[in-house]
Amino acid sequence: MKLTIDENVKGIPHYPKAAMYGLDDGWVRLASNENPFPPSPGVLSDILEAIPYITRYPGGEYELKAAIAEKYGTKPEQIVLGNGSDELIEMALKTMKSKRKNGVIISDPSFAFYAIASKIYGYEVCRVPLDKHMQVDLNTIRDAIDDQTRVIFLNNPLNPTGTIFEEKAFTVFLKGIPADVLVVVDEAYAEFVESTGFPHSSRYINDFPVLTLRTFSKAYALAGLRVGYGICEASLASFLERTKQPFSVNIMALIGARAALNDEKHLKKVLNNNKKGKTYLYSALKELSIEYVPTEANYVLFRIGKGAEAITKRLFEEKILVRWMGAYNLPEHIRVSIGRMDENMRFIEALKKLLRS
Ligand SMILES: Cc1ncc(COP(=O)(O)O)c(C=O)c1O
Repeated sequence: MKLTIDENVKGIPHYPKAAMYGLDDGWVRLASNENPFPPSPGVLSDILEAIPYITRYPGGEYELKAAIAEKYGTKPEQIVLGNGSDELIEMALKTMKSKRKNGVIISDPSFAFYAIASKIYGYEVCRVPLDKHMQVDLNTIRDAIDDQTRVIFLNNPLNPTGTIFEEKAFTVFLKGIPADVLVVVDEAYAEFVESTGFPHSSRYINDFPVLTLRTFSKAYALAGLRVGYGICEASLASFLERTKQPFSVNIMALIGARAALNDEKHLKKVLNNNKKGKTYLYSALKELSIEYVPTEANYVLFRIGKGAEAITKRLFEEKILVRWMGAYNLPEHIRVSIGRMDENMRFIEALKKLLRS
């Protein structure tokens, strides 16, 4: 190939995708923090009803925004929709575009797409290590800001550790942020949080340059439809909106998300299952003397040692998908999503067998 490829693009690793191994074929998928349950029959039937409308470009964005706004006590003009929260991450970067050296600050590790998207848009990324409790180090992030900084990505709970930063630390942090730095708070897993100290960042959008990101991919079981949303001050929402592909959220996603948003019964079932699964995994890992990080999300990060990659491969051979954390600079760790109880048990049984062998 003779094309001159952008140097930033050359340095970008392929995003690890685990979804390609068929659907009901005996695989236990615990690699991507998805919902182990399908959406409820009511939500599925609403999605099916939307299918004939695929002839047209999707309508219904306003209705979904209005439903989300009502939930948060904001105006629909403060909601931005995206093709998954991934698209909102890109929209934030496009809106704040810069080639500045310290343009983006992220914690290390954190969700892989922040760095990937930042590189695509030409930002240099500053990575701030976690503190000794595997938590986002807000003080060091604040100290890393300079006059080049445009965007900070905070992830609460943090992927891959499941840890959170708390209200008090967050408010102190926000008070130290320059007015022209956008703080993106990605709360993809917020619905799973049990701690009462969790700061809902959407409460700060009128006083600080905060963009809250949420998704329908996790607790709402719609990862395959690709729909997420941002909550922010209305003028920022208007700018973000201009960088969005016009029809990036399809009609089934718009209809499905609206139905799922009000499906409290399903959400309760999902959260109960997560709680039980978490307790089970904690006690099973403890029994195996495996060190894990207590989580506020729907996954558990644990340290298995030097054999982590090999164990991930062996689990794959057993049709069990988990995520080896090599790409997150944690080569001795594995992240396992909390699945249905039968899936959690299959994972633990397979792990036990491998550790014995
Ligand atoms: C922290 C975090 N943010 C965003 C996403 C992407 O979510 P979406 O499916 O809404 O694009 C993920 C997906 O795993 C994630 O872990």
